[in-house]
Amino acid sequence: MALYDTIGQTYRATRRPDPRIGAAIHAALGNVSSVLNVGAGAGSYEPPQTVLAVEPSAVMIAQRPAGAAPVVQAVAEHLPLPDKSVDAAMGVLTVHHWQDVPAGLAELRRVARRRIVLLTSRADVVAKFWLLADYLPIAAPLDPALDTPIDLLTSLLPGAEVTTLPVPRDCTDGFGAAYWSRPEAYLDPVVRAGISIFARSDPAILAEASTGSVTRSNQANGTGSTATFASSRR
Ligand SMILES: C[S@@+](CC[C@H](N)C(=O)[O-])C[C@H]1O[C@@H](n2cnc3c(N)ncnc32)[C@H](O)[C@@H]1O
Repeated sequence: MALYDTIGQTYRATRRPDPRIGAAIHAALGNVSSVLNVGAGAGSYEPPQTVLAVEPSAVMIAQRPAGAAPVVQAVAEHLPLPDKSVDAAMGVLTVHHWQDVPAGLAELRRVARRRIVLLTSRADVVAKFWLLADYLPIAAPLDPALDTPIDLLTSLLPGAEVTTLPVPRDCTDGFGAAYWSRPEAYLDPVVRAGISIFARSDPAILAEASTGSVTRSNQANGTGSTATFASSRR
């Protein structure tokens, strides 16, 4: 069973696409006429030029809105497309979940004629993020984002440009670092269900680690979090 069949049940409740992140993704894609969305989930950030979505989780596929692009249940490591069959391949907040990142990126390079756009979190920033570093170090080893540094992605995407995108203070897409200035949100079970680091962790251990302690905000020192693009011209 795909991981997101278990942890993706209520994904759309808190994972609403953020318009500023969406604009940055679409700008990075540029003037392309066909897009493959890999690890597409419920379809967040999918541009109108999307010709196919690839997603392993049936639970996530079931949350795609009516009228979304056609979807096939598959993984990045084995894309069911011919060579050079789309202008661009994109993957949003997915690459760190892949079983075999080099194999998945080789597949994106195989099928994309012009461009690959990935949005992911920066492992070095995630490692220092106050929620993980100060309150939940016990959960940190479960966070696959820490094993997928940008350097690994750029080494597999020759010529890739990396752009750092700050996570907005009021980010509407409730991923792990989205609530960096709204710490109380991390105590909300609905918010937690939409964040893989919580959804994968033993609730008893998390309760012990975080009860009553996630009360501070980083607004004072302005330390937020960032997401990063690796976009590669083909
Ligand atoms: C955090 S969600 C992101 C979904 C969507 N891209 C978004 O921005 O909302 C991560 C997605 O990656 C998918 N995924 C996990 N392993 C994958 C793999 N090997 N190949 C493709 N997608 C994968 C999950 O099923 C899940 O839907």
